[in-house]
Amino acid sequence: MRSNIADAISTFFLEYETPRQVVVKNRRVGVVCRLIQLIVLVYIIGWVFIYEKGYQVTDKAIGSVYTKMKGVGYTKVNGVQRVWDVDDYVFPEQGDASFVVMTNYIMTMGQQQGNCPELPGKHSCQSDEDCEEGDYRRGGHGMLTGKCVSETKTCEVSAWCPVENDLVVPDPPLLMAAENFTLFIKNSITFPMFGIVRSNLVKRVNLRTCVFHEDEAPLCPIFRLGDIVRLSGFNFQELAVQGGAIGILIDWTCDFDWDRKHCLPKYNFHGLYGDGELMSNSSVGYNFRCRIHVTL
Ligand SMILES: *[C@@H]1O[C@H](CO)[C@@H](O)[C@H](O)[C@H]1NC(C)=O
Ligand SMILES: *[C@@H]1O[C@H](CO)[C@@H](O)[C@H](O)[C@H]1NC(C)=O
Repeated sequence: MRSNIADAISTFFLEYETPRQVVVKNRRVGVVCRLIQLIVLVYIIGWVFIYEKGYQVTDKAIGSVYTKMKGVGYTKVNGVQRVWDVDDYVFPEQGDASFVVMTNYIMTMGQQQGNCPELPGKHSCQSDEDCEEGDYRRGGHGMLTGKCVSETKTCEVSAWCPVENDLVVPDPPLLMAAENFTLFIKNSITFPMFGIVRSNLVKRVNLRTCVFHEDEAPLCPIFRLGDIVRLSGFNFQELAVQGGAIGILIDWTCDFDWDRKHCLPKYNFHGLYGDGELMSNSSVGYNFRCRIHVTL
Protein backbone atom coordinates (compact mmCIF):
# COMPACT_ATOMS: atom_id res chain seq x y z
CA MET A 1 0.00 0.00 0.00
CA ARG A 2 2.69 2.39 1.04
CA SER A 3 4.82 1.56 -1.94
CA ASN A 4 1.81 2.20 -4.24
CA ILE A 5 1.46 5.75 -2.96
CA ALA A 6 5.21 6.29 -3.20
CA ASP A 7 5.11 4.98 -6.76
CA ALA A 8 2.28 7.32 -7.69
CA ILE A 9 4.09 10.30 -6.19
CA SER A 10 7.33 9.48 -7.91
CA THR A 11 5.45 8.97 -11.21
CA PHE A 12 3.75 12.35 -10.85
CA PHE A 13 6.83 14.34 -9.92
CA LEU A 14 9.73 12.58 -11.48
CA GLU A 15 8.48 11.56 -14.89
CA TYR A 16 7.99 13.83 -17.90
CA GLU A 17 5.74 13.09 -20.83
CA THR A 18 5.90 14.67 -24.25
CA PRO A 19 4.04 13.83 -27.48
CA ARG A 20 6.17 12.58 -30.26
CA GLN A 21 5.81 14.13 -33.64
CA VAL A 22 5.70 11.97 -36.69
CA VAL A 23 6.46 13.39 -40.09
CA VAL A 24 4.39 11.54 -42.68
CA LYS A 25 5.93 11.73 -46.06
CA ASN A 26 2.76 11.07 -47.98
CA ARG A 27 1.39 13.36 -50.67
CA ARG A 28 -2.23 12.60 -50.12
CA VAL A 29 -2.14 13.14 -46.35
CA GLY A 30 -0.15 16.35 -46.88
CA VAL A 31 -2.62 17.78 -49.40
CA VAL A 32 -5.65 16.95 -47.23
CA CYS A 33 -3.99 18.55 -44.22
CA ARG A 34 -3.12 21.77 -46.09
CA LEU A 35 -6.58 21.87 -47.61
CA ILE A 36 -8.21 21.79 -44.19
CA GLN A 37 -5.92 24.58 -43.01
CA LEU A 38 -6.77 26.60 -46.09
CA ILE A 39 -10.52 26.18 -45.55
CA VAL A 40 -10.22 27.39 -41.96
CA LEU A 41 -8.13 30.37 -43.07
CA VAL A 42 -10.54 31.32 -45.86
CA TYR A 43 -13.46 31.04 -43.46
CA ILE A 44 -11.85 33.31 -40.87
CA ILE A 45 -10.54 35.93 -43.28
CA GLY A 46 -13.26 35.80 -45.88
CA TRP A 47 -16.39 35.30 -43.89
CA VAL A 48 -15.66 36.50 -40.37
CA PHE A 49 -13.47 39.50 -41.26
CA ILE A 50 -14.36 40.66 -44.74
CA TYR A 51 -18.00 39.65 -45.11
CA GLU A 52 -19.42 39.72 -41.59
CA LYS A 53 -16.85 42.23 -40.37
CA GLY A 54 -16.63 40.38 -37.09
CA TYR A 55 -13.94 42.74 -35.84
CA GLN A 56 -16.27 45.75 -36.00
CA VAL A 57 -18.58 47.08 -33.35
CA THR A 58 -22.05 48.26 -34.32
CA ASP A 59 -23.97 51.18 -32.94
CA LYS A 60 -27.63 52.13 -33.33
CA ALA A 61 -28.14 55.69 -34.50
CA ILE A 62 -30.52 58.15 -32.90
CA GLY A 63 -32.25 60.42 -35.36
CA SER A 64 -34.74 63.22 -35.81
CA VAL A 65 -37.09 63.78 -38.72
CA TYR A 66 -38.72 67.01 -39.75
CA THR A 67 -40.92 67.46 -42.81
CA LYS A 68 -42.27 70.29 -44.88
CA MET A 69 -44.78 70.13 -47.75
CA LYS A 70 -44.97 72.60 -50.58
CA GLY A 71 -47.53 73.08 -53.31
CA VAL A 72 -50.84 74.77 -54.05
CA GLY A 73 -53.94 73.11 -55.45
CA TYR A 74 -57.11 74.50 -56.97
CA THR A 75 -60.53 72.92 -57.03
CA LYS A 76 -63.77 73.89 -58.65
CA VAL A 77 -66.82 72.15 -57.20
CA ASN A 78 -70.34 73.29 -58.13
CA GLY A 79 -68.89 76.42 -59.66
CA VAL A 80 -67.04 77.43 -56.49
CA GLN A 81 -63.30 77.81 -56.92
CA ARG A 82 -61.05 77.15 -53.95
CA VAL A 83 -57.35 77.46 -53.28
CA TRP A 84 -55.68 74.84 -51.13
CA ASP A 85 -52.30 75.56 -49.64
CA VAL A 86 -50.18 73.58 -47.19
CA ASP A 87 -52.14 74.88 -44.22
CA ASP A 88 -55.36 73.52 -45.70
CA TYR A 89 -54.34 70.05 -46.80
CA VAL A 90 -51.68 68.86 -44.31
CA PHE A 91 -52.76 67.46 -40.94
CA PRO A 92 -51.33 68.02 -38.36
CA GLU A 93 -49.82 71.33 -39.39
CA GLN A 94 -46.35 71.24 -37.82
CA GLY A 95 -43.68 69.27 -39.70
CA ASP A 96 -44.37 65.95 -38.01
CA ALA A 97 -42.67 62.69 -38.94
CA SER A 98 -46.13 61.26 -39.55
CA PHE A 99 -48.79 63.32 -41.26
CA VAL A 100 -51.74 63.26 -43.64
CA VAL A 101 -51.94 64.96 -47.03
CA MET A 102 -55.52 65.46 -48.11
CA THR A 103 -56.12 64.38 -51.71
CA ASN A 104 -59.89 64.08 -51.79
CA TYR A 105 -62.73 65.44 -49.72
CA ILE A 106 -66.46 65.67 -49.24
CA MET A 107 -67.48 69.10 -48.04
CA THR A 108 -70.77 69.67 -46.28
CA MET A 109 -71.28 73.41 -46.12
CA GLY A 110 -73.14 75.37 -43.47
CA GLN A 111 -73.85 72.57 -41.03
CA GLN A 112 -75.83 73.52 -37.94
CA GLN A 113 -77.23 71.50 -35.10
CA GLY A 114 -80.84 70.59 -35.68
CA ASN A 115 -83.19 67.98 -37.08
CA CYS A 116 -82.93 66.70 -40.64
CA PRO A 117 -83.58 63.51 -42.63
CA GLU A 118 -81.02 60.69 -42.78
CA LEU A 119 -79.37 59.76 -46.06
CA PRO A 120 -81.24 57.42 -48.41
CA GLY A 121 -80.47 53.83 -47.50
CA LYS A 122 -79.86 54.63 -43.85
CA HIS A 123 -82.92 54.19 -41.63
CA SER A 124 -85.51 54.02 -44.42
CA CYS A 125 -89.13 54.36 -43.35
CA GLN A 126 -92.69 54.38 -44.58
CA SER A 127 -94.28 56.04 -41.58
CA ASP A 128 -93.39 57.45 -38.16
CA GLU A 129 -93.82 53.98 -36.67
CA ASP A 130 -90.63 52.84 -38.40
CA CYS A 131 -88.63 55.52 -36.61
CA GLU A 132 -88.42 54.81 -32.90
CA GLU A 133 -87.57 57.98 -31.00
CA GLY A 134 -84.14 57.77 -29.33
CA ASP A 135 -82.95 54.93 -31.53
CA TYR A 136 -79.37 55.25 -32.74
CA ARG A 137 -77.35 53.12 -35.11
CA ARG A 138 -73.58 53.04 -35.28
CA GLY A 139 -73.44 54.00 -38.94
CA GLY A 140 -76.03 56.75 -38.54
CA HIS A 141 -75.59 60.46 -38.15
CA GLY A 142 -77.59 60.95 -34.97
CA MET A 143 -80.46 59.91 -32.73
CA LEU A 144 -83.89 59.47 -34.29
CA THR A 145 -86.54 62.04 -33.45
CA GLY A 146 -89.39 59.64 -34.17
CA LYS A 147 -90.47 61.30 -37.40
CA CYS A 148 -90.42 59.85 -40.90
CA VAL A 149 -89.60 62.44 -43.57
CA SER A 150 -91.83 61.73 -46.54
CA GLU A 151 -89.66 63.38 -49.25
CA THR A 152 -86.59 61.18 -48.60
CA LYS A 153 -88.44 58.22 -47.01
CA THR A 154 -85.85 58.20 -44.22
CA CYS A 155 -86.11 58.89 -40.51
CA GLU A 156 -85.36 62.31 -39.15
CA VAL A 157 -82.27 62.56 -36.93
CA SER A 158 -81.03 65.07 -34.43
CA ALA A 159 -77.61 65.88 -35.83
CA TRP A 160 -75.34 68.38 -37.52
CA CYS A 161 -77.53 69.28 -40.49
CA PRO A 162 -77.55 68.76 -43.38
CA VAL A 163 -75.93 65.36 -42.80
CA GLU A 164 -72.82 64.48 -44.76
CA ASN A 165 -73.40 62.54 -47.94
CA ASP A 166 -70.49 60.13 -48.28
CA LEU A 167 -72.28 57.71 -50.58
CA VAL A 168 -70.50 59.12 -53.61
CA VAL A 169 -66.75 59.66 -53.34
CA PRO A 170 -65.33 62.07 -55.97
CA ASP A 171 -63.36 60.16 -58.59
CA PRO A 172 -60.97 61.41 -59.99
CA PRO A 173 -59.92 62.87 -56.63
CA LEU A 174 -60.51 66.60 -56.21
CA LEU A 175 -56.95 67.39 -55.18
CA MET A 176 -55.25 65.44 -57.94
CA ALA A 177 -52.79 68.36 -57.97
CA ALA A 178 -51.25 66.80 -54.85
CA GLU A 179 -49.36 64.54 -57.24
CA ASN A 180 -46.99 67.45 -57.89
CA PHE A 181 -46.74 68.67 -54.30
CA THR A 182 -43.29 68.21 -52.82
CA LEU A 183 -42.20 66.87 -49.49
CA PHE A 184 -38.95 68.04 -47.94
CA ILE A 185 -37.47 65.71 -45.32
CA LYS A 186 -34.79 66.89 -42.94
CA ASN A 187 -33.20 64.02 -41.10
CA SER A 188 -30.27 64.20 -38.70
CA ILE A 189 -28.76 61.19 -37.03
CA THR A 190 -26.01 60.56 -34.56
CA PHE A 191 -24.00 57.44 -33.84
CA PRO A 192 -23.23 58.13 -30.16
CA MET A 193 -20.60 55.41 -29.78
CA PHE A 194 -18.50 56.87 -32.61
CA GLY A 195 -19.36 60.51 -31.93
CA ILE A 196 -20.48 60.97 -35.54
CA VAL A 197 -23.36 63.18 -36.62
CA ARG A 198 -24.75 63.03 -40.16
CA SER A 199 -27.57 64.80 -41.95
CA ASN A 200 -29.43 63.97 -45.15
CA LEU A 201 -28.78 67.50 -46.45
CA VAL A 202 -25.76 66.51 -48.47
CA LYS A 203 -23.54 69.34 -49.75
CA ARG A 204 -23.43 68.14 -53.32
CA VAL A 205 -27.19 68.47 -53.93
CA ASN A 206 -28.77 71.83 -54.65
CA LEU A 207 -31.86 72.10 -52.49
CA ARG A 208 -33.23 74.98 -54.56
CA THR A 209 -33.57 72.98 -57.74
CA CYS A 210 -33.36 69.27 -57.04
CA VAL A 211 -36.17 66.73 -56.97
CA PHE A 212 -35.57 63.18 -55.81
CA HIS A 213 -35.16 60.62 -58.53
CA GLU A 214 -34.18 57.03 -57.75
CA ASP A 215 -31.40 56.99 -60.39
CA GLU A 216 -30.56 60.59 -61.21
CA ALA A 217 -30.93 62.30 -57.83
CA PRO A 218 -30.99 59.61 -55.13
CA LEU A 219 -29.67 62.00 -52.48
CA CYS A 220 -32.09 64.89 -53.00
CA PRO A 221 -34.31 65.12 -49.89
CA ILE A 222 -37.20 66.74 -51.79
CA PHE A 223 -39.77 64.27 -53.04
CA ARG A 224 -42.71 64.61 -55.42
CA LEU A 225 -45.73 62.93 -53.82
CA GLY A 226 -46.47 61.23 -57.14
CA ASP A 227 -42.98 59.69 -57.12
CA ILE A 228 -43.33 58.50 -53.53
CA VAL A 229 -46.57 56.73 -54.38
CA ARG A 230 -45.12 55.26 -57.58
CA LEU A 231 -41.99 53.97 -55.82
CA SER A 232 -44.11 52.38 -53.13
CA GLY A 233 -45.76 50.38 -55.89
CA PHE A 234 -49.07 52.16 -56.22
CA ASN A 235 -50.92 54.36 -58.68
CA PHE A 236 -51.43 57.91 -57.44
CA GLN A 237 -54.86 58.47 -58.90
CA GLU A 238 -56.18 55.20 -57.43
CA LEU A 239 -54.64 55.81 -54.04
CA ALA A 240 -55.77 59.43 -53.88
CA VAL A 241 -59.47 58.56 -54.14
CA GLN A 242 -59.76 56.63 -50.87
CA GLY A 243 -56.40 57.33 -49.27
CA GLY A 244 -53.72 55.02 -47.99
CA ALA A 245 -50.58 54.89 -45.90
CA ILE A 246 -47.01 55.03 -47.16
CA GLY A 247 -43.84 54.61 -45.13
CA ILE A 248 -40.50 56.14 -46.06
CA LEU A 249 -37.51 54.35 -44.64
CA ILE A 250 -34.27 56.32 -44.51
CA ASP A 251 -31.55 53.72 -44.37
CA TRP A 252 -28.25 54.82 -42.84
CA THR A 253 -26.15 51.70 -42.94
CA CYS A 254 -22.67 53.15 -42.55
CA ASP A 255 -19.25 51.54 -42.42
CA PHE A 256 -16.81 53.79 -40.58
CA ASP A 257 -13.81 51.79 -41.78
CA TRP A 258 -14.16 54.28 -44.62
CA ASP A 259 -14.30 58.04 -44.41
CA ARG A 260 -17.56 59.32 -42.92
CA LYS A 261 -18.35 61.21 -46.14
CA HIS A 262 -19.37 57.83 -47.58
CA CYS A 263 -22.04 57.56 -44.89
CA LEU A 264 -25.10 58.56 -46.93
CA PRO A 265 -28.82 57.92 -46.63
CA LYS A 266 -30.79 55.56 -48.84
CA TYR A 267 -34.51 56.14 -49.25
CA ASN A 268 -36.97 53.28 -49.45
CA PHE A 269 -40.69 53.57 -49.97
CA HIS A 270 -43.24 51.09 -48.74
CA GLY A 271 -46.97 50.92 -49.26
CA LEU A 272 -48.66 50.17 -45.94
CA TYR A 273 -52.11 49.47 -47.29
CA GLY A 274 -52.36 45.72 -46.89
CA ASP A 275 -52.51 43.26 -49.75
CA GLY A 276 -56.18 43.65 -50.59
CA GLU A 277 -56.93 40.08 -49.69
CA LEU A 278 -56.96 40.68 -45.97
CA MET A 279 -58.50 44.11 -46.17
CA SER A 280 -62.26 44.22 -46.08
CA ASN A 281 -63.90 46.29 -48.80
CA SER A 282 -65.99 48.18 -46.30
CA SER A 283 -63.00 50.10 -44.96
CA VAL A 284 -60.70 50.94 -47.81
CA GLY A 285 -58.05 53.62 -47.54
CA TYR A 286 -57.83 56.22 -44.86
CA ASN A 287 -60.21 59.02 -44.01
CA PHE A 288 -61.25 61.22 -41.15
CA ARG A 289 -63.72 64.01 -40.48
CA CYS A 290 -63.02 67.50 -39.32
CA ARG A 291 -64.99 70.70 -38.88
CA ILE A 292 -63.57 73.86 -40.33
CA HIS A 293 -64.80 77.28 -39.28
CA VAL A 294 -64.42 79.66 -42.16
CA THR A 295 -64.69 83.38 -41.55
CA LEU A 296 -65.18 85.45 -44.65
C1 LIG B 1 -47.76 67.69 -62.63
O1 LIG B 1 -46.76 68.38 -63.36
C2 LIG B 1 -46.57 67.90 -64.67
C3 LIG B 1 -45.36 68.61 -65.26
O2 LIG B 1 -45.29 69.93 -64.85
C4 LIG B 1 -47.84 68.15 -65.46
O3 LIG B 1 -47.68 67.67 -66.79
C5 LIG B 1 -48.98 67.41 -64.79
O4 LIG B 1 -50.19 67.69 -65.45
C6 LIG B 1 -49.09 67.82 -63.33
N1 LIG B 1 -50.07 66.97 -62.68
C7 LIG B 1 -51.20 67.45 -62.11
C8 LIG B 1 -52.11 66.47 -61.54
O5 LIG B 1 -51.46 68.64 -62.09
C1 LIG C 1 -63.39 43.84 -53.03
O1 LIG C 1 -63.58 44.58 -54.23
C2 LIG C 1 -62.95 44.02 -55.35
C3 LIG C 1 -63.15 44.93 -56.55
O2 LIG C 1 -63.69 46.15 -56.20
C4 LIG C 1 -63.53 42.62 -55.63
O3 LIG C 1 -62.86 42.04 -56.73
C5 LIG C 1 -63.32 41.76 -54.40
O4 LIG C 1 -63.93 40.52 -54.60
C6 LIG C 1 -63.90 42.43 -53.16
N1 LIG C 1 -63.56 41.65 -51.98
C7 LIG C 1 -64.44 41.35 -51.03
C8 LIG C 1 -63.94 40.56 -49.89
O5 LIG C 1 -65.61 41.71 -51.10
